[in-house]
Amino acid sequence: MSEYDALIAAATKARENAHAKFSNFKVGAALHTPSGKIFLGCNIENATYGLTLCAERVSIFKAISEGELRFDSIAVVTDTETLTPPCGACRQIIWEFCHDIPVVLANLKGDVQVLQMSKLFPKPFDSSNL
Ligand code: THU
Repeated sequence: MSEYDALIAAATKARENAHAKFSNFKVGAALHTPSGKIFLGCNIENATYGLTLCAERVSIFKAISEGELRFDSIAVVTDTETLTPPCGACRQIIWEFCHDIPVVLANLKGDVQVLQMSKLFPKPFDSSNL
């Protein structure tokens, strides 16, 4: 049991909607707000591979597009032995919109690891550099 169980369950459910027919690598994400809302995301692939969107970014862009601006954690779920950390592009986007939140990595077996964004992305480029 952890405080993130509900968020992990939500990301696990979102993963079922993944469009991953090129990689067969399904990812689910769930983004949590301080007010208790959860925005779901899954990876969405395209025959033009570079147009693929990761689950994390889908959840963030859905939330932003609905006017949500504050986030306090994100869960990422895959069916892998080694837990899946966000890719570099997603780290940049998570930092931009969520700053130093905990990133909850989990798999379908119940393994969980919580990493702070400042550990995953120690020297970010952001508005403080402009
Ligand atoms: N993917 C994600 O959705 N999130 C990650 O954190 C890592 C990678 C997706 C992109 C692509 O659809 C598939 O996983 C394989 O790279």
